[in-house]
Amino acid sequence: MGEHLLYRIPLGGIVSVRDRLLELQAKGRKVYRLESGDPSFSIPDHVRLAMIKALEAGHTHYTAGAGIQPLREAAARKMVEENRIALRGSNSVFVTNGAMHGLYVVFRALLEPGDEVLLPDPTWTETFDNVSLAGGVPVRVRLDPECGYRYQAERIEAAITARTRALVINSPHNPTGLVLDRAELQAILKVAERRGLWVVSDEAYEHVLYDGREHVSAGSLGYEKVISIFSMSKSYAMSGLRVGYLACNDERIAERLVKLLRCTINGVNSVAQHGAVAALTGPQDATRAMAAEYQKRRDALWSALQGVTLLHPFKPQGAFYLWARIDEGWAGGRRGWDMTDFLLERGIGSAPGEVFGPSGAGHIRFAFSCSTEQVVAGAVALEQALKG
Ligand SMILES: Cc1ncc(COP(=O)(O)O)c(C=O)c1O
Repeated sequence: MGEHLLYRIPLGGIVSVRDRLLELQAKGRKVYRLESGDPSFSIPDHVRLAMIKALEAGHTHYTAGAGIQPLREAAARKMVEENRIALRGSNSVFVTNGAMHGLYVVFRALLEPGDEVLLPDPTWTETFDNVSLAGGVPVRVRLDPECGYRYQAERIEAAITARTRALVINSPHNPTGLVLDRAELQAILKVAERRGLWVVSDEAYEHVLYDGREHVSAGSLGYEKVISIFSMSKSYAMSGLRVGYLACNDERIAERLVKLLRCTINGVNSVAQHGAVAALTGPQDATRAMAAEYQKRRDALWSALQGVTLLHPFKPQGAFYLWARIDEGWAGGRRGWDMTDFLLERGIGSAPGEVFGPSGAGHIRFAFSCSTEQVVAGAVALEQALKG
């Protein structure tokens, strides 16, 4: 018997930073929660009220495994009108327990044991882990600081083997904050099409964009084999309510998804699904206001880091993470963990670059999804700690 699959999955480096910060906080220390990405905002009022109404109306029973029909229809409309995805209808929409679960069921549905999936390096840890969990082999394709961490289609193509089944696109990107433009997406899709690969497009941060940037959905560019994954967590601050949705036009894969949804969750929390309908069909001003607030936080963190010679920050174009290369002059060593530990002693959270993959070594990530006040104060504390 081989080693159990779960030995390949780590317990989670960022969680350990969070736990240590919470311990410090319990001892009365001031802490700055720049380690993980959870929106500080409350859910929009109309979403909260829709959930209360659903609860009072007795919507507390099992729902259809793929999601309640009003939500599948609302998500279909949104994906067609806003994302310009060529969707065959609400039957192509599947409601998941967050985008995280969406990634798991999609990889599980697509992969045979040993199939390879190309991922950007660095990548959100759980994307990598969910490929492994589904029996696949995650293969990293490096994003270089010299190229602004941009995806390079030639490099993706060079990593393709006879076992490659899919490639992952994540724009806006966690951890770098990179946003891919239409031409870059088209170049990647061309490679996928030429080589017959599936494209898994993780668009969890589609609404968190800066400086007027546009989000382009890979599913809008004319290639059939794109599965698009969305989340209610970041767009509507519904992270704890655990709702996501995905679009898959392929009938064979869709049939597998139906089975997986039945056997993994048997439907997402019914009250949360009613909240998601209200979020997708109601006014979108809260989403826009949150993005504007994230931009203030990004600007505060960005300007504080301009005076810190020990870090070479990459300006986030989207998502709520600031990725920085650690200067060779940093006495603590080149591992992100050395700087993360150093900052933790000062109550400042961060995520060491290496948890996102080998090319993250010598980098560090700061999340700015906690309150604006905390980000602004944290930026000052960070500047002082690293200048001193
Ligand atoms: C890149 C990326 N994809 C997906 C998710 C999952 O979001 P959720 O499961 O809350 O919808 C996250 C969460 O941090 C993420 O960073």
